Amino acid sequence: MSTIQSFSLPAHSPMRHRDFLFGVATASFQIEGDAGSRLPCIWDTFCATPGKIADGSNGLTACNHVQHWYDDVALIEQLGVGGYRLSIAWGRVMNRDGSVNDAGMAFYIRLLDELNRRGIKPFVTLYHWDLPQYLEDAGGWLNRDTCYAFKDYARAVAEHLGDRVHAYATLNEPFCSSFLGYEAGIHAPGHASRAKGRTAAHHLLLAHGLAMKELRAVLPNTKAGIVLNFTPAYPLTASSSDANAAKLANQYFNLWYLQPLMTGQYPAIIDTLKADERPPVEAGDMDIIQAPLDYLGVNYYTRAMYQAGGELGFEEVRVPGVPRTDIGWEIRPQAFTELLVDLHRQFRLPPIYITENGAAQDDVPVDGKVHDAMRLDYLQQHLLAVHDAITQGVDVKGYFAWSLMDNFEWAEGYSKRFGIVYVDYQTQQRIPKSSAMAYRGLLGEIKAQGAN
Ligand code: FCB
Repeated sequence: MSTIQSFSLPAHSPMRHRDFLFGVATASFQIEGDAGSRLPCIWDTFCATPGKIADGSNGLTACNHVQHWYDDVALIEQLGVGGYRLSIAWGRVMNRDGSVNDAGMAFYIRLLDELNRRGIKPFVTLYHWDLPQYLEDAGGWLNRDTCYAFKDYARAVAEHLGDRVHAYATLNEPFCSSFLGYEAGIHAPGHASRAKGRTAAHHLLLAHGLAMKELRAVLPNTKAGIVLNFTPAYPLTASSSDANAAKLANQYFNLWYLQPLMTGQYPAIIDTLKADERPPVEAGDMDIIQAPLDYLGVNYYTRAMYQAGGELGFEEVRVPGVPRTDIGWEIRPQAFTELLVDLHRQFRLPPIYITENGAAQDDVPVDGKVHDAMRLDYLQQHLLAVHDAITQGVDVKGYFAWSLMDNFEWAEGYSKRFGIVYVDYQTQQRIPKSSAMAYRGLLGEIKAQGAN
């Protein structure tokens, strides 16, 4: 059990430089609520399907952020962070006929104006998984037309929100939208086929490339990029067959998204797929996908172990006896450093922002306080892991903790808490946990040091 109460970084860490951005992150469907003011999305449908969400919950109210946004911004400011990463609900700002929903857009304009007024840089993700249901009804990410609908949506957002946004991200974790949503069936919309997963992934990447073009055209001076998640793949044993399994898993789960963005090519494992499981790549697609990025958002939580086996040559193994968070993910900060260093060596990467990192803990308030000892340890170790990567040459410009506050954790519902601020879902009271105090302490200390 942890005894730490505060976070620390080495005295000369580049993360103490005033340009290094610390922030907190959320996503629309996970916090907003106010579902009546937006179009239904695939997660509304998924939540209404019995058995899909662990606690049978939904996002209709969530943290009721649409009502509490002003106080939530005040809370963000109190943490002392310089950045806030949020996402736009597509169906809140666009009507079905393609026109803009002015009231919905006005909500984000107010929010962004208030963040800017308080000196907090907004990082805005256009797609954090809440596809309008009417688009899914026409095939969703299996339908190439969805890429063009996304492009139009991106343009409308860029035109209306403009440079109130410090940095745009087209997509959050296309791995989750495509693999979990269309291939493994555990996220919305719940399809389960390899061909569908690979098709959705390709269309998501194409949509990203098309949207980048719109963002560049409307806002040539605003940063634009994408957020990918990485679960580095490690071999279970020292055997060459397990090493190969880990290499294949890495291609299938991680490089499938990064490599096309960097090089315009899918990784070699694509050649082992059956013809009808390969993505529908049309002439010119890979050039669109390869559009230069101003930054790469990296989300890291855990690693995974593999052995040889399975249809594609790899099989995940759950190793017993290792430390895990409340959601069952192994705590492995060294793998975070190794991931960043490996990517830096393999690709010519743009600057990196860590756009998510955090831990689930089964927090319970005691006398109005939440002491999240495991999360304190987790965050401290992962901050140091980022520091280590930077000292090995990786260009990391910022770090966003996931999450500002407890929220709707997708298929886990409200049963898994990731916030550094506790949310009482009955009263909507927010209680900063020990980790929030420690974050604030570190950021205050860095600020004071800069002032000297
Ligand atoms: C990431 C998601 C984020 C949150 C964390 C725990 O995959 O981007 O919305 O659910 O996991």
